[in-house]
Amino acid sequence: MCGIVGYTGSDTAKDVLISGLKRLEYRGYDSAGVALERAAGPGGGATCLDIVRRVGKVAGLESELAHRDDASTCGIGHTRWATHGRPTTANAHPHTSCDGRIAVVHNGIIENFAELRAELESRGHRFASETDTEVFAHLIEEAYDGRPDAGIPATGDLMAAVRAACTRVVGAYGLAAVCADEPGVIAVARKDSPIVVGRGERGSYVASDVIALIDATRDVVVLEDGQFARLTPEGIEFSDEQGRPIEPDVTHIDWDIDLAEKGGYPDFMLKEICEQPRVVRDTLVGRLSPTGELDIDELGLSFEELDLIDRVYVIACGTSYHAGLIAKNLIEAWARIPCEVEAASEFRYRNPIITPSTLVVAVSQSGETADTLAAIRDARIKGAKVFGITNVVGSPVARESDGVIYTKANKEIAVASTKSFIGQIVSLTLLALLLGQVKGKLTVGQVRMLFRELGDTAAQIQWILDTQREAVHEAALACKDAPSALFVGRGMGAAISYEGALKLKEVSYLHAEAYAAGEMKHGPIALIDPGFPVIAVATDSPVYDKVVSNLKECEARGANIIALATEGDEDIRRIADHVIYIPPVRDAFCAITASVPLQLLAREVAVMRGCDVDQPRNLAKSVTVE
Ligand code: F6R
Repeated sequence: MCGIVGYTGSDTAKDVLISGLKRLEYRGYDSAGVALERAAGPGGGATCLDIVRRVGKVAGLESELAHRDDASTCGIGHTRWATHGRPTTANAHPHTSCDGRIAVVHNGIIENFAELRAELESRGHRFASETDTEVFAHLIEEAYDGRPDAGIPATGDLMAAVRAACTRVVGAYGLAAVCADEPGVIAVARKDSPIVVGRGERGSYVASDVIALIDATRDVVVLEDGQFARLTPEGIEFSDEQGRPIEPDVTHIDWDIDLAEKGGYPDFMLKEICEQPRVVRDTLVGRLSPTGELDIDELGLSFEELDLIDRVYVIACGTSYHAGLIAKNLIEAWARIPCEVEAASEFRYRNPIITPSTLVVAVSQSGETADTLAAIRDARIKGAKVFGITNVVGSPVARESDGVIYTKANKEIAVASTKSFIGQIVSLTLLALLLGQVKGKLTVGQVRMLFRELGDTAAQIQWILDTQREAVHEAALACKDAPSALFVGRGMGAAISYEGALKLKEVSYLHAEAYAAGEMKHGPIALIDPGFPVIAVATDSPVYDKVVSNLKECEARGANIIALATEGDEDIRRIADHVIYIPPVRDAFCAITASVPLQLLAREVAVMRGCDVDQPRNLAKSVTVE
């Protein structure tokens, strides 16, 4: 998704902006640009803004800027992922006012953009792009200069003009603006789209993600909705919607920048897959009290409130939705509460049956996915309790939920979710155990035993990483040139299959589908020609025999069968062409371990097909707009 950086201080602005934009590359983007203030030349003259934009990678922008001098010490930059308008230079940010004196970068979406654009055009503003963002530049220009004919007074002040423009906009924005008439000033606003600001020794910084600031400062302010910041080389002033000064909350960032580097791995995706044993351990630290009961201090709901819950909805998108499918099995098995899993993009436009005893569990790695947030808000209005599972501390999902479990995956850089998925399953497993405990369906002894086995999955994942890479490689060779692949399983295995197919599609661009294995004979089996890859979750479970009999149907049609089986199962070799093993594990936890070889398989196929596994085409790390 789009990224914002801004800097004002004593360093060369273009260098600071490029290094910040590079840190944001992981989010996915299709164009990049900067606005740099150029001081008056020796012969006098006003400060002006130098706008440089490029379609493609930040490296292209960097080469272009290499020809510019180093004099500018204030500027804003952006990586854009196209929403309103195609990925072109004209649509890349920053966008400027008619006279080019004001430039803005913006993340989010302006819902009333069409009306605002028509209104501004009727007053003579000329638009140079198809974007919604450009209305901000023109609105700020009007508020700065004034438009007596439209009853708009002149503020003559960038911060006040930004504040006035925001009152006209319906939608979400993280915004940074500069004005040639106020050298060294960056005005920043936020509503429903993340913005962080920080002071370093050599100036003031703004970004849409703390990772872009961390080289300069570890003490940052995450702006709240409706808060504004005015950055100058000397400091940062914070204000509210009325312009009243406010005292911000400073957050200290204690994670290491090394976490954001590849650490010797060829790509972030592999690095993050290999971090999963740690994610399991970290997500479980401190969750079991000395008396053997689950302890989730950020729960936000009393045990009495939890006991009243009689229906659970898990709402999420993409990979997070698949974590929900796994949770459904656990919640229904352990707490005996009906649990439905819905894509947030569907849930928010339906009229689901929600009562005060409904628990809505919102799962989101980024904590800022637009559909998931909208679904949370809707559910709360309808009276549900909302529980968030997210990887990002202080994210909108965390803030807008009654309680939260953080997945402790740490920053996930590769666009495809891997380690955060495992963190989500572990967190959802904790929630299912808790509901089972509170509802009296699980004894303290059972909870303790299951918790211990859950923790054992860390070592089991490590075993897979240490011993099954060669088997995954062989299986990948069997898939890489296929036109398509089918993932099948039953029960937990079906849920894992959906994620396996998504991962393969998104990183290797190989078409894949997933089916509950029992559904094969009702249609998908028609796909199977000799050599067609069928990836089956055939781990030890109550439905193992059923899965094997489904595989026999595939074998009879000549499928190339890749089985995920439990270590020690030699019989499966009679039917499967390739076998990848996971250690013996209770069926309830096999999603955690069996997902790992499927992640490795997707990556391996993608690498063999020459794909950029960290930044798949057409995808962004988080989808903060519809
Ligand atoms: C796939 C992937 C996406 C996300 C989805 C939801 O690898 O990463 O499918 O899972 O966009 O994102 P979050 O979890 O941030 O709400």
